[in-house]
Amino acid sequence: MGNQVDRRKFIQASTVATAGLALTSAGVGNEDAKVNRPVRIGIVGVGGRGTGLLRVLLTMKGVEVPALCDINADHLKRAQDIVAAAGQAEPTGYSVGEDRAYKQLMDRDDLDAVIIATYWEWHAPMAVYGMQAGKYVGVEVPAALTMDECWELVKTHEQTGVPCMMLENWSFRRDNLAVLNMIRRGLFGEIVHCHCAHSHDCIDHWFFDGQGNDRWPAKYLIDRNADQYPTHSLGPVISWMDIGCGDYFDYVTSTATSSLGINAHFARKFGPDHPGAKRKYAQGDIVTTVVKTHQGKSIVINYDMQLPRPYDNRWMIQGTLGIYNEQRDAVYLLDRSPKYHDWEPFAPYQEEFDHAWWKEMGAEGGEHGHGGTDYLELQQFVKAVRDKTQTPIDVYDSVMMSVIVPLSEQSIAAGSAPIKCPDFTRGKWRTREPAFALDPRFTQTT
Ligand SMILES: NC(=O)c1ccc[n+]([C@@H]2O[C@H](COP(=O)([O-])OP(=O)(O)OC[C@H]3O[C@@H](n4cnc5c(N)ncnc54)[C@H](O)[C@@H]3O)[C@@H](O)[C@H]2O)c1
Repeated sequence: MGNQVDRRKFIQASTVATAGLALTSAGVGNEDAKVNRPVRIGIVGVGGRGTGLLRVLLTMKGVEVPALCDINADHLKRAQDIVAAAGQAEPTGYSVGEDRAYKQLMDRDDLDAVIIATYWEWHAPMAVYGMQAGKYVGVEVPAALTMDECWELVKTHEQTGVPCMMLENWSFRRDNLAVLNMIRRGLFGEIVHCHCAHSHDCIDHWFFDGQGNDRWPAKYLIDRNADQYPTHSLGPVISWMDIGCGDYFDYVTSTATSSLGINAHFARKFGPDHPGAKRKYAQGDIVTTVVKTHQGKSIVINYDMQLPRPYDNRWMIQGTLGIYNEQRDAVYLLDRSPKYHDWEPFAPYQEEFDHAWWKEMGAEGGEHGHGGTDYLELQQFVKAVRDKTQTPIDVYDSVMMSVIVPLSEQSIAAGSAPIKCPDFTRGKWRTREPAFALDPRFTQTT
């Protein structure tokens, strides 16, 4: 119980700290922030994901999309038509030169923010340029692929003062935010261990096109053996475990299985002579990463994207007073559950600890992608842009969710050796306070 009270005080204090947050550049503190003018956002990359995000933005009052960029002229035209059909002026399109078009968009002086939904290798360079151009950045997952890119994002943010948010939608999931409220209320006691996974068979529609041809991410399966997509699993865990604000990754060990799934898929679907059935892939089918934190906690993260299976995240969080298991949709809480050592349904807890963001979002939000999480993450991003405050996921969170890509690659290459995680906060994690998704109902002592 002592921990519960301490934690409540801690969150209460951090609410005050966050409310007083004043950024130092990007026009923050500017009187202009109080003027009720539209938030103007440019989007770079309007393929599948970028178009989905565009459609959500177009449903929001006070948001304009005056500029779009895509090196694929058809994608660009399709997106321009969507904006026009929504009743806004047709946005200016930038499409010539993969290293030029996005800079032309970001150099405009009439944009408040840019959203980046391009190929992975472009995320960090574009986010860096966007911050340097003074635009709030919302960048798709993962924000960075290498350790150098992680550092570049952090350093550019620190030099410019411009916020950079990785658009990790699963951090905004309704159940995950209710669990966060429960943790902040101390229901699980002291947190000890988490499990998470991105188990999503993406072979036939995303890495490859379903007709036996490579799509752009295929090259990563050929060249790299890593947890290539750790952010959907880690997103909620970062806030559940106060990573970056009280605790931090110490070291990581990763183990990859052999790579059988992709060859088997091609042989099954296109025959054993198809090049995809014979080609060698570096990427192991399942990568299991274990993170040890400085406070002695552990996190298990699974990459699992190339074997046939239904979708799963396998979130689980365990503390000194209980456990939540997303797969079972159940909790066990020593102080509350009716039967000793027996699961009880999560649904009543979802209702009791539902996050204020979801209550306030309204029914229209739930009609959008991923059950409303896409709407909520963009709503909170736009709010930060409009108010000129820090984004709910900041650059340090973005980098912590992404750094598992290079750390896991190094560990696998070194025979599952432990690899130290750099401290991107340079010690500030010891004193920084939780800022993500503070819910007033769960920041008061009762
Ligand atoms: N958060 C989520 O739930 C979610 C879901 C799907 C994809 N994603 C992420 O979104 C990103 C895009 O994925 P997708 O499925 O939309 O891919 P996609 O291939 O459908 O779209 C990518 C678009 O980026 C454009 N592009 C690439 N390089 C560019 C450049 N230099 N300048 C301008 N445009 C460029 C391409 O022409 C294409 O239209 C990926 O990073 C992926 O990881 C996230």
